[in-house]
Amino acid sequence: MEADFLIKILTMTEEWWKKFFGEGYIKEWEEAGMFRYTRREVNFLEKVIPLRKKDEILDLCCGHGRHAIELARRGYKVTGLDFSLYALGIARREAKRRNLIVSFVRGDARNFKFRKKFDVIINMFTAFGYGSREDDRKIIRNVSRSLRKEGKFFIDLQSLPWLWRNFKPVRRERVGKLRIVDKRTYDFLEGVVRSIRIVSDGTRKRISRTQTRSYTLAELENLLVEEGLKVVKFFGSYKGQPFGFNTKRMLVVAKKI
Ligand SMILES: C[S@@+](CC[C@H](N)C(=O)[O-])C[C@H]1O[C@@H](n2cnc3c(N)ncnc32)[C@H](O)[C@@H]1O
Repeated sequence: MEADFLIKILTMTEEWWKKFFGEGYIKEWEEAGMFRYTRREVNFLEKVIPLRKKDEILDLCCGHGRHAIELARRGYKVTGLDFSLYALGIARREAKRRNLIVSFVRGDARNFKFRKKFDVIINMFTAFGYGSREDDRKIIRNVSRSLRKEGKFFIDLQSLPWLWRNFKPVRRERVGKLRIVDKRTYDFLEGVVRSIRIVSDGTRKRISRTQTRSYTLAELENLLVEEGLKVVKFFGSYKGQPFGFNTKRMLVVAKKI
């Protein structure tokens, strides 16, 4: 009942993501093993974009820097941008510990500005679709402005056909000592999933609310083209499977035209 009520009062204007991606998120998702495929993901980026050693890369919405740091370890020049100070703190400490040079910058993906242009911009792990459609457009516009001509944009999103086929209003799981309950609704008009997540470790409960818009590939292509980019490749998984009804991710490589 509590969750149903909270889900209703979450509105489209709320910038929930400004507070959500802090300590609780990073610890829980780390414990759930969600970050364990970083190297495999970076192998995929190197192959499909494809990356060249001299490339200047921007990891947009880099979180605690797992891809940015792995890319720097492999010799690329990397900048990471995120809004979460907590996540950036972890990223900076980890880069320092490993003696790697990565510039981690606090900013908003809707309106960041760098003096230089990038060869490649990546946006990993569904770090898009958290606000209004206009917010999404601003992010894509900014990506386009910040890329060199012929530069590449890689975006890793949840697949909408997969989401529709597998949508469950309530999901319960146990991760280590954590009990996680997700209650979700799908807003067909807005194209967003609203979710309440209750995580308890036996003594403490953490309740968080999220909402994320998913796009069909055609809708995303439309948005990209309107902002001066164009899809050149797409896949359904980091194993390189073709995108289809049964693949979970929508991995898109677009080019600045
Ligand atoms: C799901 S996490 C992904 C983090 C990272 N890319 C990864 O793969 O671990 C989404 C990240 O996007 C960031 N974010 C979301 N909207 C943003 C915005 N408008 N500007 C800057 N950062 C944003 C959040 O702070 C969070 O760190």
